[in-house]
Amino acid sequence: MPTEINVRVLLKSRPTGFPVEDDFEVVESPIPQPQQGEILLESMWLSLDPYMRGRMNDAKSYAPSVDIGEPMVGGAVAKVVESRSPLFNPGDIVEGRFGWQSYAISNGIAVRKVDESLAPVQTAVGVLGMPGLTAYFGFLDVCDPTPGDTVVVSAASGAVGQIVGQIAKIMGCKVIGTVGSEPKAKFIVEELGFDYAINYKTSDVAQSLDNLCPEGIDVYFDNVGGIVTDAVMDRINIGARIAICGQISQYNLKTPDLAPRNLGLLTRSQAKMEGFLVFAYESRYDEGIARMAAWIKEGKLKYKEDVVIGLKNAPKTFIGMLNGENFGKTLIKVAE
Ligand SMILES: NC(=O)c1ccc[n+]([C@@H]2O[C@H](COP(=O)([O-])OP(=O)(O)OC[C@H]3O[C@@H](n4cnc5c(N)ncnc54)[C@H](OP(=O)(O)O)[C@@H]3O)[C@@H](O)[C@H]2O)c1
Repeated sequence: MPTEINVRVLLKSRPTGFPVEDDFEVVESPIPQPQQGEILLESMWLSLDPYMRGRMNDAKSYAPSVDIGEPMVGGAVAKVVESRSPLFNPGDIVEGRFGWQSYAISNGIAVRKVDESLAPVQTAVGVLGMPGLTAYFGFLDVCDPTPGDTVVVSAASGAVGQIVGQIAKIMGCKVIGTVGSEPKAKFIVEELGFDYAINYKTSDVAQSLDNLCPEGIDVYFDNVGGIVTDAVMDRINIGARIAICGQISQYNLKTPDLAPRNLGLLTRSQAKMEGFLVFAYESRYDEGIARMAAWIKEGKLKYKEDVVIGLKNAPKTFIGMLNGENFGKTLIKVAE
C-alpha cells in the first residue's frame, strides 16, 4: 500500500471570463480504500484539455459540470496499486477519467488498459488518446480529404492540430496551419512538414491566405473560431468541408461574440460545415490507435508534448494553455 497523501485539485469557484488560480483549491486527504470490485489508482500523467473550461461553468453542455468542491475532471494515465476487481492486476497501466488527483478509486467502467508496447504510456492521453483520436476521426471522417486538397488547420501546433496537419500530409494534401507564435510557426513547417504557417497574432490572416493558397481552401479543421475562421470562410472552394472541432477563442469571453453572419458562404460554395465530438467514434478507437501507432513507428507521425511536473501546478498550467502558453500537448507529470 502507498503511504503518501492524496493531492487533489478542487473547483473552488466558477470563473467569469478567464479562470484564475484562485478558482481552484489544492487539498491533501488520505488515500481512499477500494471496496469489492474496485481498484485503487496512482495517477502518473494528467491531461489538461480546453474542454475542462466548459466543465467549470454551470451551463448546459454535452457533459455535466464539475460541482463546486469536487475534483476537476480529466483524463489520466494511472497505475493500479491495489485491485479488488478480477479485471485488473496491481501494476497494470490504465487510462480513464480519474480527475485532477494523485489517487483515485474506480469500478473499472470506461477504464482502458494501455498497450505499453505502442509508445510511451502518456500518449494514451495524447496522440494515441482523446486528442489524437479527435484529429484522426475529425479529419478523415468529417473532412473526407482527397489528395491535392488544400487544408487549413487552426491551433496547428496544439494537441489536436499538430496531428491533423500531419495526417493531412500523409493523405497527400497541401497544409497550412495557423498558430500564435513564431517558434510554433517554425516548428510546424520545419519539424512536422506542414507546407506553410501563418502567425495570426502578427500577420493579416486574410492576406496571408490569399498569398499562400490562391487556389482557395477545400478543407478547414477549426479549433479556434473567431477572426481566423472568418478569414478562412471567405476563401472556401465549391464543395469545401469544414469540421468544427472547437472554438477556443470563444471559451473565456464574458460576452459571447455575435453569431456567424457569413453562413451564406456555405450556400455559395455548396460546402458542408459539421460539428463533431470524438466520443461518437468510441467504437472505432482501436482502429485509430492502431493506425496512428503504425505511423509513429514508421516515423510519419510525430508528437510534441509540453510537460509540467507536479499536480499542484495544474491550475496555472491549465490557464496558461488557454492563453496559448503551451507548446504541444499539455501534460502534468504526476508521478513516476
Ligand atoms: N470536438 C471534440 O471532440 C474535441 C476533442 C478535443 C479537443 N477539441 C477542441 O480542439 C481544440 C484544440 O484542443 P487541444 O487540446 O489541441 O488544445 P491545444 O491546441 O493544445 O491548446 C490550445 C491552443 O489554442 C490556441 N488559442 C488559445 N486562444 C486562442 C484564440 N483566442 N485564438 C486562436 N487560438 C487560440 C493556443 O495556441 P496558439 O498559440 O497557436 O494561439 C493554445 O495553445 C479546442 O478548441 C478543443 O476544445 C475538441
